[in-house]
Amino acid sequence: MTVLGIETSCDETAAAVVRLEPGDTAIGIRGEILSNVVFSQIDDHAPYGGVVPEIAARAHIEHLDGLIERALSEAGLGWDDLDGIAATSGPGLIGGVIVGLMTAKGIAAARGLPLIGVNHLEGHALTARLTDGLPFPYLLLLVSGGHSQLLVVEDVGKYRRLGTTIDDAVGEAFDKVAKLMGIGYPGGPAVEKLARKGDAARFAFPRPLLNRPGCDFSFSGLKTAVRQAIEAFDPLTEKDKADIAASFQAAVADVLSDRAEIAMAQADLVIPEGYRRFAVAGGVAANMALRERLLGTAHACGYEFVTLPLRLCTDNAAMIAWAGAEHLARGETDALDVAPRARWPLDPDAAPARGAGVKA
Ligand code: KG4
Ligand code: ZN
Repeated sequence: MTVLGIETSCDETAAAVVRLEPGDTAIGIRGEILSNVVFSQIDDHAPYGGVVPEIAARAHIEHLDGLIERALSEAGLGWDDLDGIAATSGPGLIGGVIVGLMTAKGIAAARGLPLIGVNHLEGHALTARLTDGLPFPYLLLLVSGGHSQLLVVEDVGKYRRLGTTIDDAVGEAFDKVAKLMGIGYPGGPAVEKLARKGDAARFAFPRPLLNRPGCDFSFSGLKTAVRQAIEAFDPLTEKDKADIAASFQAAVADVLSDRAEIAMAQADLVIPEGYRRFAVAGGVAANMALRERLLGTAHACGYEFVTLPLRLCTDNAAMIAWAGAEHLARGETDALDVAPRARWPLDPDAAPARGAGVKA
């Protein structure tokens, strides 16, 4: 089963071809990435210190056709070799989602191919099956610019949310801290780099919700504390910046580790022994310091730790093609009138977190 995937929900325009075939793995199938091309719009948005939705949507229109052509040619395939077209149909910046989904609909209609509208979060959630053949169920920490969630991945299309942010996403906090210090956009990689030479003990930033019951996250108080620390300096030296970055990242690490520990204790009830695996996905999962910390937490709780290659942590279309292929393999496809969605929670039964809006 060979699927073309399209991703346009934020500031990466991406196309990929992925093949799902029967395999001698724990899940009976194996995936192969035949091509995976990503155009990052970073330069378009950098002057604004964040993603501008209108600019993003226009850039997707400009680049998507060429990227799809490249994805096919790098895979050495033509249209006739495809079995389906998958595109992110939410959640995300609606202008961008519309561009990708409508392109996919056009291709599906023109070529008579099945269409699969993929939940972007499901793309992140199922990547560990593409890379590591992870069987259901497993625990997932999804940390990106738009989401911070702990989920039990029970099946394709079936997720149990254990916790979510009640205000900001963790990637958003990284981006904000970087913007306040003027160290570049996107913030995550810049903060991580600076933190390496900083003193994490210099600033005692708050650890929101630490040691509190449940697995929810909160990052707005931490963000405010960092802003106040930055504003107290004039001038802000390179050493101050590095120490702030390190202290901020240490606070995030403490919070993620604490919440993950509680989630593992809760997940023990639904994840049988032998299946205890903890995967981390989303852009923030590219952070090496956080990975190391979460690896320790997982092992201390008796969980195997699963990380993804860096280019599959941040937004890409291979994850969309794979999630589409998993649905297609089950005969689950969408009609051509499937609607783009700005909001699309993975667990429809989870209580809404009002302060987080579409991020919950
Ligand atoms: O998953 P992603 O590419 O897009 C969304 O779906 O949001 O995640 C992007 C987020 C950004 O906030 C970015 O700053 C963050 O992931 N990020 C990082 C790192 N690399 C990317 N955060 C911390 N450390 C990193 N190395
Ligand atoms: Zn994402």
